[in-house]
Amino acid sequence: MSTNQIQVPKQLMLERILTIELVRVTERAAVSSARLRGHGNEKAADQAAVDAMRRELNKLPIEGTIVIGEGERDEAPMLYIGEKVGTRAGPDVDIAVDPLEGTTLCAKNMPGAIATMAMAEGGSLLHAPDVYMDKIAVGPGYAKGVVDIDASPAENVRRLAKAKGVAPDAITVLVLDRARHADIIQSVRSTGASVRLITDGDVAGVIHCADPDNTGVDMYLGIGGAPEGVLAAVALRCIGGQMQCRLILDTEEKRERAAKMGTLDPKMIYQIEDMAKGDCLFAATGVTTGSLLSGVKVRRDGVIETETVVMRSVTGTVRVIKAEHRQLDKFHLD
Ligand code: FBP
Repeated sequence: MSTNQIQVPKQLMLERILTIELVRVTERAAVSSARLRGHGNEKAADQAAVDAMRRELNKLPIEGTIVIGEGERDEAPMLYIGEKVGTRAGPDVDIAVDPLEGTTLCAKNMPGAIATMAMAEGGSLLHAPDVYMDKIAVGPGYAKGVVDIDASPAENVRRLAKAKGVAPDAITVLVLDRARHADIIQSVRSTGASVRLITDGDVAGVIHCADPDNTGVDMYLGIGGAPEGVLAAVALRCIGGQMQCRLILDTEEKRERAAKMGTLDPKMIYQIEDMAKGDCLFAATGVTTGSLLSGVKVRRDGVIETETVVMRSVTGTVRVIKAEHRQLDKFHLD
């Protein structure tokens, strides 16, 4: 796959050893929340993932700042925006986390819950408040601006179909199944294109666009969380594709929160490079099996299996790491 090439000065590159460290972090978060799959308790599953992720992040040789986290300081006791993590014996990095992306999917033991995080050099990730965000994403190989967040969904389908050299009815658009998306769904379908609905999990949803031959998804459209938008942008920085996003700042209170984090123009359209600069790393481990990753498996002999995808933007390398954990509990609380 081609990457969104941005020249990254050497001093801004992350130590590549950190790539494998990210895997440990998302693996532990996934295993901890997987113990609560199907228990119907979103909060407990999320907390288990948060605790594990925080514990692992604090072992990393970094001077990390959470820029996308569990919420703002007053509402989240752990992994809140601004929290410092790591041993402080290493580089200054921005960290975006979603310890359990798809809390409902995990609580109901439905496909597609993941534990995910991203890392970039300090000051490189968009600091976004936990508000909604309008998003459009397509995969690699298209001219810049092939789709436009301000064009109608029907127009974007037609533009993408033309660029792909197919009829609109050969295009599939992934959309979160929400009442707020009724107009988008209707507009996409008016072209003859197909809408694939998902109940949750738009980080994986956006990633699907990067590999349409295998996922069957050409475009992601709609409104989801801003934190999830930044995480997805990091993934697309690594694997290629285009994404445009706009924060939904529909109250004075939200505009103030965004301004405090540096968003002075509430209507700003963010491209991938505005959300994730420099060298970035992205990792996700499956909690429940989905179309992106297998979920955590506990074998009869007690061995725990995980599957993780980890990517680095500067090289565009994507690794899928299957791990067998034999002594996880022994090292659980160190
Ligand atoms: P959570 O894991 O926080 O529940 O997020 C799941 C999710 O589906 C995201 O992938 C998506 O961005 C967001 O919820 C959409 O928000 P809402 O459920 O309020 O429509």
